[in-house]
Amino acid sequence: MCFDSWFIIPKAGTTWMIEIVDCVMNDGDTERCKRSPTHDRAPFMELNPPKPFHSGLQQLASMPSPRLVKTHLPVQLVPQSFWENDCKVIYVARNAKDNLVSYYHFQQMNQALPETGSWEQYISSFLSGQVPWGSWFDHVTGWWESKAKHRVLYLFYEDLKEDPAREIDRVARFLGKGLDQAVIDRIADHTSFLQMKENPMANCSTVPSFIFNQAVSPFMRKGTVGDWKQHFTVSQSERFDEEYRRRLAGTSLRFRTEL
Ligand code: A3P
Repeated sequence: MCFDSWFIIPKAGTTWMIEIVDCVMNDGDTERCKRSPTHDRAPFMELNPPKPFHSGLQQLASMPSPRLVKTHLPVQLVPQSFWENDCKVIYVARNAKDNLVSYYHFQQMNQALPETGSWEQYISSFLSGQVPWGSWFDHVTGWWESKAKHRVLYLFYEDLKEDPAREIDRVARFLGKGLDQAVIDRIADHTSFLQMKENPMANCSTVPSFIFNQAVSPFMRKGTVGDWKQHFTVSQSERFDEEYRRRLAGTSLRFRTEL
């Protein structure tokens, strides 16, 4: 079984990247990308919901290759078959503070996830890795190191915001597609925050409200860099930065927290 491309970390732009890759694989045919919701175009590998929903693995097993696989697994939990088949991986990372903020709102609207506790408690949970899919620090550094061994395109949410066309071009080249500038620009427009927010096939509005309660927080929430400044107090930010420096001390990985 060969999976050909797939992507990662929760709340760092997975849905955005799925839309971009689907557009790239369909040569910029943005109408075709409206054929079905995100979760059908890129099944979520580790999702195993109760009936009548299909598990991610069931969905993937019925799809021909090449196919898009969504996963949030940390690198050490990835099935060996992915590496044996030399699958292409697109990893999207996001600065920790914005990632945390997005996580916090998502976990409140997602009725399938445990309650967040207070904002203050959630910062502690995030720093200690007590959030779905585990430690942000281990996740981003584990995948960063995996680039040396595997076909991993490691992208940053902040770079995508700064220059979507440039990053879409990188994705296209990684996937073996040479696309004209006009096609890249069309994809950039179709995958902009505002377009995706209005697109029922990309904004998660097809997920039942007893799972995603978008009245609590919309899935397409803000889509910005630096929203953390609206959430952290000065002392929370300092506590966070201290732990952050300690945990990322030995890596060359660098994030931008503002543009
Ligand atoms: P915010 O909560 O900060 O708004 P994921 O898909 O991995 O769960 O990530 C969701 C985050 O990506 C949300 O962040 C969402 O708004 C943002 N996002 C989704 N599509 C986007 C787009 N086209 N441009 C910018 N941000 C986007």
